Amino acid sequence: MKQAASKPRRLVGKGMVRVDADGKVRGRTRYLNDIAYKGLLHGVVVRSPVARGIFKALVPDPAFDWSKVVLATAADIPGENVVHMHDRTMPLLAEPGGELRYRGEPIAVVAAKTPELAAEAAARLRIETEELPPLLTLQEAIAVFKKSPKRFDSMKDQDIVKGDLAKGFADADDVLEAEYWAGHQEQLYIENQGFVVFPQKDGSIFCEGSLQCPYFPVHELNDALRLPPEKIRVRQTPVGGAFGGKEEYPTMLVGYAALPALKSGKPVKITYDRHEDILFTPKRHPVWVRFKTGFKKDGTLTAIECDFILDGGAYLTISDVVMFRGILHCALAYRCDNVVIRGRVARTHSFPCGAFRGFGAPQAIWGLESHIDAIAARIGQSPHAYRRRIHARPGDVTPTGQILSTENGSTACLDLALKRSDFARKLQQASRGRLRKGQKKFYGIGLSFFAHGAAFTGDGEAKFKAKGRMELALLDDGNPGVNIRVSSTEMGQGVHTIFTQIAADALSLDPARIRYPMADTGLVPNSGPTVASRTTMVVGNVVHRASQDLKSQMEAFASLRFFRGEKSVLKNSQLTAKGRKPVAFAKVARAMLDELGDVNGFFEFRLPPETRWDQATFKGDSYPGYSWSANVAEIKIDPLTCELAVTRVTAVVDVGRIINPILAAGQVEGGLTQALGYAVMEKIATGKNGLYDASRLQTYIIPTALDVPEYDVKFVEYPYSYAPPGGKGLGELPMDGLAPAIANAVEAAVGKRLRTIPITPEALFEALHPAPGGTP
Ligand code: MOS
Repeated sequence: MKQAASKPRRLVGKGMVRVDADGKVRGRTRYLNDIAYKGLLHGVVVRSPVARGIFKALVPDPAFDWSKVVLATAADIPGENVVHMHDRTMPLLAEPGGELRYRGEPIAVVAAKTPELAAEAAARLRIETEELPPLLTLQEAIAVFKKSPKRFDSMKDQDIVKGDLAKGFADADDVLEAEYWAGHQEQLYIENQGFVVFPQKDGSIFCEGSLQCPYFPVHELNDALRLPPEKIRVRQTPVGGAFGGKEEYPTMLVGYAALPALKSGKPVKITYDRHEDILFTPKRHPVWVRFKTGFKKDGTLTAIECDFILDGGAYLTISDVVMFRGILHCALAYRCDNVVIRGRVARTHSFPCGAFRGFGAPQAIWGLESHIDAIAARIGQSPHAYRRRIHARPGDVTPTGQILSTENGSTACLDLALKRSDFARKLQQASRGRLRKGQKKFYGIGLSFFAHGAAFTGDGEAKFKAKGRMELALLDDGNPGVNIRVSSTEMGQGVHTIFTQIAADALSLDPARIRYPMADTGLVPNSGPTVASRTTMVVGNVVHRASQDLKSQMEAFASLRFFRGEKSVLKNSQLTAKGRKPVAFAKVARAMLDELGDVNGFFEFRLPPETRWDQATFKGDSYPGYSWSANVAEIKIDPLTCELAVTRVTAVVDVGRIINPILAAGQVEGGLTQALGYAVMEKIATGKNGLYDASRLQTYIIPTALDVPEYDVKFVEYPYSYAPPGGKGLGELPMDGLAPAIANAVEAAVGKRLRTIPITPEALFEALHPAPGGTP
């Protein structure tokens, strides 16, 4: 026997070309707005003109011919007027007599044969309101919080308590307290939001559009539309970027489009242009975070006290879980026995904030990693030596009492990042506010170190039990192959490719015989939303196990029907048996399909039985596994214009087993670039009129290719062995730590610590040239 020839080829770990590359590169992939639907109505959302007020009445202009359009209001909602995300407070459309809680809150939907006619009709609706004074920003909410905490309006509170905080402060030689702020951030996916809803004869609806979580609309609109889950079918169209922005919001679009669709019996499509998309879809939550830390002379942390408050906007939607992820990351990466973290979600009269890559963790790590540098400076230690001493490693206990496992590259990430960036030597060259001889720009270098919890928070995965199947079928070319049937969506991150690699390896099948059809809730089991850095780790394991299940079914069948009971193995697309001529996969597959009809491998994800989580006390194993990273940023600042350029970023990353190194590096570079924008450019806030003060690509500035620094990305692999192939979660981690690394580099460059991001040239100018007697 020739061993070498029959050894299965492995795809996991290789840079296989994206399975969606051809269609995307050639422009053949059809996004929602490329699809020519027939007989469509176009929907326009009519919105509150005030940030807060009583909704008195909606008055249609009698001079307009309303028979040409479909007008849907709250009165047309078939069931209860509620969208049940994480609570049941948010109406689908505002009710006359009720309170309008944010500018742009939907009041009605108008649908017509052309978008122009729908827009004209919308403009012919007069909205009568009685305005009330709004509370628009987190700054205003925090002012209330500090002055009279009892009046502070929190939609959700959660504390984490470890050890004895008072004892921790009593043991401290020194105490450092500081506050950190960050503003909104817009996801700015290339493809704007859009959905189309087709009413069906049986009263159900079929919907398709650009989204991350096909099962969300299925389960969040049942009461409003008075339809059970099986009567709301959702299919994904190709997604031109999402980054969290298409996590919870598409449910709203489905709800808005469903109302005129159900009323008229005609399909209704709603798509936003860029202006409407920026103004009226969720952003990253602004944060105020205050750290009060106690430490020994040598820097040993004895106490961490933290207040973490997010601006949730007008309704909770999913902000409770964003805050949970935030507080779980506020003190995660360092050793400390006494910790109190208090999380709150402030209610404001601004657009509800939502999911954006990182989901609370970037806000937490922004504060913590700035603060750790500040402590190092106070005790006279270098930021790298200090982190090397106090960082969490295997065996350490997190603030919720979880013992960190050995599958943990924390030290490896930190050490390799310091080495590759030559950090210690370069830090000596930092300008510290004084140009050296021959220097035209201030130079600085900064470090951050952090972890990201992979998969759902707490017992989320234990309760959810992600399901998936691998379906033996005749493919588009008429020949047998396997369909991957999970609800994970491709949004550019590469899941169609890496699941093909995982399935091909687990089946030992040619990847050309594997397809990944668009997720469709009518056809795929619920493997969960494509969020929370859970896809590779959790659903990747479901694909691996379901593939193994299908493989053994095929082997059993081949043994019986082709090999007279001799044990059979599927290897390199052939069914083999000792002493027999191998039979091609296609032949066995056809025989199986003929005889059995449906053939599926199946798996349901379980957490290890020893996993513990108590939601009431927030104690236990807060995540199944942790990814780790260290970032080093090098920057230059022009002393005259205060322009800041990030010149080089080193990122060493432990996300467990790397399935596709090219896609993984791309994920890291993309996330770092979004974090670069968060740190130094992207500025958007709720203005006095209740609208975001940047609403176009002209005014919302993001990094371009010219702003992207030289990236040095390296992986160290500490796989999650419980769930082969062992990925730990990569999507969000690259977004988490660059902002504080840049702020720390700014401090090294100019000798001043900035505690608010983005650090724009204007902010730097004010910091470096404080006007005598106050703000310039
Ligand atoms: Mo995400 S930010 O968990 O879509």
